[in-house]
Amino acid sequence: MAVRVAVVGSGPAGFFTSEELLKQEGFEVDLYDALPTPFGLVRAGVAPDHPKIKTVTRRYEKTAQAPRFRFFGGVELGADVKRNELLERYHAVVYAVGTRDDNRLGIAGEDRRGSHAATEFVAWYNGHPEHADSEFDLSARTAVVVGNGNVALDVARMLVLDPSEVAVTDTADHAVDALARARVERVIVLGRRGPAQSAFTTPELLELAELRAADVVVDPGEVELDGHSAEWLEREGGAMARKKVEILQDYAARTPAGK
Ligand SMILES: Cc1cc2nc3c(=O)[nH]c(=O)nc-3n(C[C@H](O)[C@H](O)[C@H](O)COP(=O)(O)OP(=O)(O)OC[C@H]3O[C@@H](n4cnc5c(N)ncnc54)[C@H](O)[C@@H]3O)c2cc1C
Ligand SMILES: NC(=O)c1ccc[n+]([C@@H]2O[C@H](COP(=O)([O-])OP(=O)(O)OC[C@H]3O[C@@H](n4cnc5c(N)ncnc54)[C@H](OP(=O)(O)O)[C@@H]3O)[C@@H](O)[C@H]2O)c1
Repeated sequence: MAVRVAVVGSGPAGFFTSEELLKQEGFEVDLYDALPTPFGLVRAGVAPDHPKIKTVTRRYEKTAQAPRFRFFGGVELGADVKRNELLERYHAVVYAVGTRDDNRLGIAGEDRRGSHAATEFVAWYNGHPEHADSEFDLSARTAVVVGNGNVALDVARMLVLDPSEVAVTDTADHAVDALARARVERVIVLGRRGPAQSAFTTPELLELAELRAADVVVDPGEVELDGHSAEWLEREGGAMARKKVEILQDYAARTPAGK
């Protein structure tokens, strides 16, 4: 008798789980997603100017062709199907639903006009159906991105890409138009800790210097390490953290090209 498994959520976690199960003898997998389309944040998160990263979906497509695999889109766990209903029909249920909501900052003014979670902005430019009608006022000259992770760099980059750089991507049409009309001239990436503790990775940091229409400007004072950070970096920081500090110090020494 086949072992029937329901996997809920068709992002990377759902697809890699399905792939592993289907490699074993005797498993059948039904993959469910609340959205009509599969691939989770690979479709609706990964930046549209990073098409190579999105090609991981080819591997998922291969999984989807397996005879013992079925995909059910537009089925939301909790609304369209209940946990008990799945447990009655399957030998096992895997929850791979990701992290749908943003983290709240818990600060005054967080919900004022012009303040948005990256979750919403990213979903909007990636054509997520629940965010197609979102509106962002891009008429301001300065935007502030809070956080020092890769999502912060994605958002910062999308705000300053030249329209010609956006047009060749699969950015949602509504966002291509709005970003082309955007008047943002300066994006400040705001971190609560120093460069040694930043969460972004080196390729993403290096990519900032390759932008067609924007200079990356680093205040030298911001990349001077305090004693504690210098010691930590030396002893336990690791190669990636050291490289990031080096890159940021190199940026601080550059003269903006006037882009
Ligand atoms: C803006 C952004 C950019 C990123 N860029 C990169 C990158 O360039 N490179 C990289 O390696 N990583 C990147 N990541 C990280 C990567 O996208 C995540 O690590 C990965 O997608 C997590 O996979 P997951 O399957 O756990 O969740 P998700 O990809 O979020 O998938 C979860 C799925 O579950 C579905 N779901 C949720 N609730 C329900 C429900 N109740 N019923 C049914 N279905 C449901 C959702 O619709 C979704 O399809 C990025 C993340 C973000 C936010
Ligand atoms: N190109 C890529 O490969 C790519 C692109 C996008 C995303 N991703 C991946 O997707 C995952 C999620 O990325 P992410 O950028 O959302 O998360 P992340 O890597 O955890 O970074 C979050 C950043 O936000 C800061 N932060 C959190 N709460 C804050 C607050 N209240 N005030 C100020 N700063 C705050 C964190 O600082 P502290 O460290 O001080 O908490 C950190 O710098 C990561 O694994 C990331 O690498 C990869």
